Amino acid sequence: MQDKTKDRRIYGEHLTPVEVFNDFILPEIKNKKNDYIWVDLFAGAGNLILPILNLIPEEKRIEFFKKRIYLFDIQKELVEQAINNASKYGIPRKIAEKNIIQKDTIKEYPKFLLDLDLPIYHITNPPYLYLGYIVKHKETQKYLEFFKGDNKGYQDLYQLALINDLRNGIEKMIYIIPSNFLFGFSVSNKIRDDFFKYYLIEKAIIFEKEIFEHTGTNVVICFFNRKKAPKKESIKFQGIKINNEIQKKTYVLKPENHYRAGSDFEEFVNNNKAKNPIKITYYLTLDEVIKNKGEYKISVIDANEINGKKYTKKVIYVNEKLYKKIKSNILFVRTVDTGTINGRAGLYNIKEVFEADGILVTKAKYRTHPIQIFFDPALTVDEQKLLMNYFNLILEYFRQKTDSEFLTTYKYSNSKYTRKYLGLRQVKNLIQTFPWLSLNEEEKNMLKNLIEAKNIKKLITFISHVK
Ligand SMILES: C[S@@+](CC[C@H](N)C(=O)[O-])C[C@H]1O[C@@H](n2cnc3c(N)ncnc32)[C@H](O)[C@@H]1O
Repeated sequence: MQDKTKDRRIYGEHLTPVEVFNDFILPEIKNKKNDYIWVDLFAGAGNLILPILNLIPEEKRIEFFKKRIYLFDIQKELVEQAINNASKYGIPRKIAEKNIIQKDTIKEYPKFLLDLDLPIYHITNPPYLYLGYIVKHKETQKYLEFFKGDNKGYQDLYQLALINDLRNGIEKMIYIIPSNFLFGFSVSNKIRDDFFKYYLIEKAIIFEKEIFEHTGTNVVICFFNRKKAPKKESIKFQGIKINNEIQKKTYVLKPENHYRAGSDFEEFVNNNKAKNPIKITYYLTLDEVIKNKGEYKISVIDANEINGKKYTKKVIYVNEKLYKKIKSNILFVRTVDTGTINGRAGLYNIKEVFEADGILVTKAKYRTHPIQIFFDPALTVDEQKLLMNYFNLILEYFRQKTDSEFLTTYKYSNSKYTRKYLGLRQVKNLIQTFPWLSLNEEEKNMLKNLIEAKNIKKLITFISHVK
């Protein structure tokens, strides 16, 4: 018996349920069925193309199939499955074998498709395999060669599939791909920069719930149209977001944001950096503690050690300087939602949450651990509390406004609640919009009042005026 889990990993194999095709793709293409050749270069069992045959009267299906359908997959067993599936639509094996082909289509694009009498419509759910994973696992390292030369900088197999279509001049595509294509930062900045010079998105369906049986990767279905001529311009499209409910939203992808979707937060922090921004550093490390040994006793939690559900508490001895530094910096950042309403990503008071003075990193630094923040110049305790309230207010405002799209979805969890990750650079950027150090007394009071009153609209106007 073959190892399915392994195939899923090595070949990025996640077959799309036929219902997804029927519900979301078929309605968009059914009136164009005679205008294109329908291709899936990563076809698996053929679920994204073969159901088109339902639209064709039985006596015309064989002709239609011969002329208008081509499927490819690297795995023999899946090609076999697709041939069997085709027979369920009345396509004889001999004919199916001609157009359902075993081939590594990332390595070599089947160019003959480009010479056929009608244009290609590529509908696919390509393999997803992140370069970071490929590098680390022996069985996938054969893919490393794909990411060299002109493909240097792309980060996932699905991105190579997109760029190959671009290079071969394909006009119309429907892709089911990880939502990091639209919402990711460094994982997808390059592919978006390159791709959106040539393509528009007509529409996107954004799933915030799982649609595959064996992976929690959130996906989007993107409907792409090639532009008449390459152009660097903003791209506007309708998104339909499917969660526990269905929401419609207009997205604008701007070249200056690497065409990233949901960039309101980035725009806010970029446009409102304070004249005199507060500088911060992250982490209290063991190294620093060892270098500053002394007589002063202080309580910390060990961010690398969990006992039951709690971080282990420790008492350490440091010199006066470090003692003062730890004691006077009272905040930490929680970068990942814990999954409860009180544990959302944001700034928190160390003493209140952990009943300790500091958060010590004893082993590796993890960006998902609680991380102590150190301010330079020092802020008073009251100033830090005010900053904390400011930070959390603005963060919640943008979470609501953008449905948390500026945050990265953190792994997959079974709960209904989608956990989000707030990057450390985002934390720093948001802190640097806090204009405190540039304000006079009167302005400081105004800012304080707005934060205390949670008057978010006026607060944002105020920030943009005084920055
Ligand atoms: C995510 S699955 C999707 C299959 C199908 N499009 C669907 O939606 O049901 C990706 C498919 O790509 C195939 N694949 C992976 N690498 C490939 C390559 N280099 N060339 C051709 N097919 C490949 C896998 O075997 C797998 O069947």
